[in-house]
Amino acid sequence: MTELGGCVHRPPGGWSESSPALIERLDDLPLDRLGDLLADSEAAGSRIARRLVDEWADRTNRFDRPGEALFGARVGERLVGVCGLNVDPYAGDDRIGRVRHLYVLVSFRRRGVGRQLVARVIESARDRFDSLRLRTDNEAAARLYVAMGFRAGAERGEFTHILELGRRPG
Ligand SMILES: CC(C)(COP(=O)(O)OP(=O)(O)OC[C@H]1O[C@@H](n2cnc3c(N)ncnc32)[C@H](O)[C@@H]1OP(=O)(O)O)[C@@H](O)C(=O)NCCC(=O)NCCS
Repeated sequence: MTELGGCVHRPPGGWSESSPALIERLDDLPLDRLGDLLADSEAAGSRIARRLVDEWADRTNRFDRPGEALFGARVGERLVGVCGLNVDPYAGDDRIGRVRHLYVLVSFRRRGVGRQLVARVIESARDRFDSLRLRTDNEAAARLYVAMGFRAGAERGEFTHILELGRRPG
């Protein structure tokens, strides 16, 4: 488990408005903890959480190829956000990764949780990928990605944002 996003001052009583979430790698999809995310995203008109669950169930995408990972943001026992890292299925190059299924509960937004999740994905991607791509038509998400160093305005249809990753030596 990793704590990202700056200093963590955890009050004795648990989480406070200003505390970041804990980012954990999800090797299994915790269906019993996904209810909030599913309901929240469907109420917001988004199919992100549903797609995550459906693709996991039918084994289309379990984030289990080399370099891939799924991360959850936890506040107490509550799963408040998710974000996945895939080999980009549109790239035809297994050194290009793709950010998938980024979603944060509406009531936990603008507290840095999305940033923490994407930071963890980027950190993980550096081990395996030369660049990271994604597609979004969501204005908030686009701002987040640009704030984190992604370049907007990619001309090709398969992605809207790209981040070149400096590979670690060795
Ligand atoms: C996009 C999303 C994940 C952002 O999550 P979040 O936890 O609110 O994001 P953060 O608090 O970490 O925000 C980080 C930065 O992103 C930008 N940002 C995030 N939400 C924003 C908004 N509503 N309006 C403008 N900028 C926004 C800001 O630059 C922000 O930094 P700041 O708060 O210091 O100004 C969340 O809004 C969401 O789940 N949206 C619906 C699902 C979706 O569109 N996913 C993307 C699919 S690719």
